[in-house]
Amino acid sequence: MTSQTPFDLRWFAHRGGGDAAPENTLAAFETGFHAGFRAFECDVKRSADGVLWLLHDDTLDRTTDARGPAAPWRWENLQLVDAGSWHSARFKGEPPPSLDAVLDFAARRGVWLNLEIKPNPGEDAATGDAVARRAAQWSAAHPSVPAPLLSSFSHPALLAARAVLDAQHADLPLALLVEAYSAQALAQAVALRAQALHTDWRQVTPDTLAAVHAAGLKLRAYTVNQRDVAQRLLADGLDGLFTDRLELPRGL
Ligand code: G3P
Ligand code: MG
Repeated sequence: MTSQTPFDLRWFAHRGGGDAAPENTLAAFETGFHAGFRAFECDVKRSADGVLWLLHDDTLDRTTDARGPAAPWRWENLQLVDAGSWHSARFKGEPPPSLDAVLDFAARRGVWLNLEIKPNPGEDAATGDAVARRAAQWSAAHPSVPAPLLSSFSHPALLAARAVLDAQHADLPLALLVEAYSAQALAQAVALRAQALHTDWRQVTPDTLAAVHAAGLKLRAYTVNQRDVAQRLLADGLDGLFTDRLELPRGL
């Protein structure tokens, strides 16, 4: 069942499908799509052998049936882990996807991806470089699909992504993620020529919105799971938000 009225692109399904499906899996993206989302956030890192894939944490412990740091794992083994059972029995055996599988989903569905660059420890620049290269290459081959938005809490990762995009004359948007808003963070985003600043929704006030907009950037907020908060922030002019609650946009 596909929603008759898809949500506008201010609404991002957090980690693919919010809390309705195991985060950062293809099942999550399909769940988010059928709920009506057309914009999706997910977390991207590198396997030991250089494959880009989706996982939020530094370790496999919370969201898979494997244990330990993710960094040493090769893709041939990662793709065999169960990234679904932790959520619920009906997702048992759901594998973690490669970035390429998620890009295939975006092409098939014609949807917008926010690829949050989530490097393994010490791999910031290499991961930013790799994600930007793949996203730029993919976007050039899929001109009718919105160009992926690349974000990160890691400034070195975004600097590396910026360098790739500039070298390739690729017009993919960047966003700097910060836990706390500050004038310094905004200046850093401007220096990166970022399209947006992404921050915790508790940081969003009329003053922060005015400052970010005056600098020519957009402001988006994570992770908004309360209806009244979403309504207020959007009314104040927030440009986008990430939610775990797939029913939240309905009627707003
Ligand atoms: O990209 C928005 C949000 O996902 C950032 O926080 O920890 O959920 O990746 P986190
Ligand atoms: Mg994220």
